[in-house]
Amino acid sequence: MKKKIAILFGGQSTEHEVSRVSATSVLKNIDNDKYVVYPIGITKDGQWFQYKGNVDNIGSGKWESDSENKIEGGINLLLNKEVDVVFPVLHGMYGEDGTMQGFCKLMNLPCVGPSVMSSAVCMDKVYTKYLLEHEGIKQADYVVVNAFDYSKDTKQFTDAIESKLGYPCFVKPANSGSSVGITKAHNLSELKNGLEEALKHDRKVLVEVGLNAREIEVAVLGNDDPKASIAGEIIPAKEFYDYEAKYQNASSKLLIPAALNDEEMKHIREQAVKIYKKLDCAGMARVDFLVDKETGEVYLNEVNTLPGFTSISMYPKMWEASGLPYNELINELIELAIERG
Ligand SMILES: Nc1ncnc2c1ncn2[C@@H]1O[C@H](COP(=O)(O)OP(=O)(O)O)[C@@H](O)[C@H]1O
Ligand SMILES: [Mg+2]
Repeated sequence: MKKKIAILFGGQSTEHEVSRVSATSVLKNIDNDKYVVYPIGITKDGQWFQYKGNVDNIGSGKWESDSENKIEGGINLLLNKEVDVVFPVLHGMYGEDGTMQGFCKLMNLPCVGPSVMSSAVCMDKVYTKYLLEHEGIKQADYVVVNAFDYSKDTKQFTDAIESKLGYPCFVKPANSGSSVGITKAHNLSELKNGLEEALKHDRKVLVEVGLNAREIEVAVLGNDDPKASIAGEIIPAKEFYDYEAKYQNASSKLLIPAALNDEEMKHIREQAVKIYKKLDCAGMARVDFLVDKETGEVYLNEVNTLPGFTSISMYPKMWEASGLPYNELINELIELAIERG
């Protein structure tokens, strides 16, 4: 019997559009001889529809006006257990943050990617710091700002940031993704603007010292005995890898393998697996590092539990370069979800 797979796309986060593109690639590459596939679109306001139309309408968002092929009550496929496995190709809030994972768990449905706790911790950049600093994982120095305390006394925070971190520094909503709401501040006025901006997205903001660093990423795959792909490197077209540089600027470059010597490559792959295990990840995660251009020191930047999945995204590309083609990667992820239950 073919397994029935729900592929969720869209979703309620700021990364709705990115998700549609990721899901299009998954739908085009999944093995239809092996699986019966149920694409389910979630609109920005949280409505679920089963989508039976042309996959090419998903990336552009046209599927939403294709009423002939859009069936209401898509959520029922999960509620009624009409599928065997859920693959939430959703980035950010309500997809990557543990909520969807919790829903699947309640429904007793295997779900691709890490479970509730790991997803939630990895989504929250502040909690990732708290957890990993006890494990001796090197991370950029930081200050946490919460909305309520900041509104009472802004100066206390900007003073602390200036004395502890200095400039440049990065201002990030704790639960950001795709660089939405993230800015680089070079002075006090940019810092204040950056904090205001980030606080629009989240009540908790992480400010980090700006490293002069290369961006190295590793794809990790597996449950109890996870494996690391060869590392890749991102060369952003802009001063940092913001939303525009990620998705709209063709001159951002991806380098696979990353330009590392054998020893550095081995070290960073081991670090990636160590971090993955410390965070109790399962299925997959992309572990992103910042490597100081001068000292070569390796800092963890963040862990993405539902990384970009377009055919040109780093996660599948790094596996492809490590000998695992995109369609086999999808099979493997589904098998890992079933294995974990
Ligand atoms: N501490 C830092 N030092 C230097 N660059 C950083 C730092 N933090 C983030 N960046 C830059 O900002 C980008 C986005 O930050 P990141 O934490 O990865 O957020 P997101 O979850 O939105 O991808 C990174 O890819 C990198 O280019
Ligand atoms: Mg990132």
